[in-house]
Amino acid sequence: MAEPEGYQPIETASVDELRALQSQRLAATVRNAYDNIAHYRSAFDAAGVHPDHITGIEDISRLPFLVKDDLRAAYPFGMFAVPRTDLIRVHASSGTTGKPTVVGYTRNDIEVWATVMARSMFAAGGRPGDLVHVAYGYGLFTGGLGAHYGAEKLGCTVVPMGGGQTEKQVTLITDFEPSIIMVTPSYCLNLIDEMERQGIDPAASSLKLGIFGAEPWTEGMRTAIEQRLDMDAVDIYGLSEVIGPGVAAECLETKDGLTIWEDHFYPEIIDPVTGEVLPDGEEGELVLTSLTKEALPVIRYRTRDVTTLLPGTARTMRRLTRVTGRTDDMLIIRGVNVYPSQIEHELLKVEGLSAHYQLHTTRDANMVGLVVNVESEREVDSDTAAQLAARARAQIKTMVGVSAEVEVLAPFTVPRSEGKAQRVL
Ligand code: DLL
Repeated sequence: MAEPEGYQPIETASVDELRALQSQRLAATVRNAYDNIAHYRSAFDAAGVHPDHITGIEDISRLPFLVKDDLRAAYPFGMFAVPRTDLIRVHASSGTTGKPTVVGYTRNDIEVWATVMARSMFAAGGRPGDLVHVAYGYGLFTGGLGAHYGAEKLGCTVVPMGGGQTEKQVTLITDFEPSIIMVTPSYCLNLIDEMERQGIDPAASSLKLGIFGAEPWTEGMRTAIEQRLDMDAVDIYGLSEVIGPGVAAECLETKDGLTIWEDHFYPEIIDPVTGEVLPDGEEGELVLTSLTKEALPVIRYRTRDVTTLLPGTARTMRRLTRVTGRTDDMLIIRGVNVYPSQIEHELLKVEGLSAHYQLHTTRDANMVGLVVNVESEREVDSDTAAQLAARARAQIKTMVGVSAEVEVLAPFTVPRSEGKAQRVL
């Protein structure tokens, strides 16, 4: 019998077999990039490295890094290794500042993407025949269409809802009875709140599995969502520059970080300041190299995402720990580095506080202060609000090491996201 669509033997191949495949694919990727993309040719020439030098995966460290600005400089279509007419689709990353980053796919790239997404969904516990409600945004963002093609490839029935129209989302979930939801964790919380507003018990919904990503989230958030919806919640990671969602995904049976699909994406962790490659087990910035992409090969792309590489468990491929945040989102509060997800982690330990929060910084007399706005779960009087704030402040001080001003707000006062939540103002 054929393997099920979502699983491929390479996921549990020996490390030797995997490294051999990576070596061969890296050499081909480097050759393609050098021969067909002006940026790589000049960057490799400047670094004194030639495709002939790259014969094994261990040679990767000879290659220069690629950064977001390199992609921006090639806006819109200057980074492709194929003529524009060979692309069957483009996407673009939102980019809060400046021009968006445009990414493109050949027919084969779309097939690879659907394959890694189907694999991610299978690892997460999805099976052919599942009804999948996709509430990631469709459009230039890769979330919606990435999930969509993966679910179709796995043999699921897709409901291409997209982001927004929160009331209608809840109606469709109630009427169609999906077993899987794919959405950002922050928007999932909004859907749960909306269910309650409509008098529907979230725990009684048909949902058995949520596949959540596109933004940092914590174990506390996992527990909150799993309890309220009475289902499993697993993590999925990816970024448009590398392909979209489906670079790495958590396996349902272990829920211990995200297996990175190393036959398509080679991971390294570097010190974000010095660029030095760090050994597995140390936290740093994730650098990714695509091994099978045709249109937009990315070689040693600095993701700015902070994580750690760990040995495989459910698969032989390595795992990423939960992405703590991006180096760009890190706040420095009186010398202490703080990621919004660390604050989330502490807030969710305080019973009575919700996961709806935003951070902003203040500056007086050259001191940077941190203000945390967080909603209480229910309406509370001012004394209770003050007690909750004091508990959160103490928790943050002890565990993160910064003094924050915590304001406990009434439910439904922190702005809601319909996609990625904006955590820092
Ligand atoms: O967010 C792709 C995606 C869609 C992933 C749906 C998962 C699910 P971009 O818009 O290019 O692509 O943003 C990529 O989002 O560099 C991380 O900073 C962040 N990110 C994505 N997944 C996770 C995750 C999509 N599971 C950027 N945990 C990445 C933490 C994540 N951060």
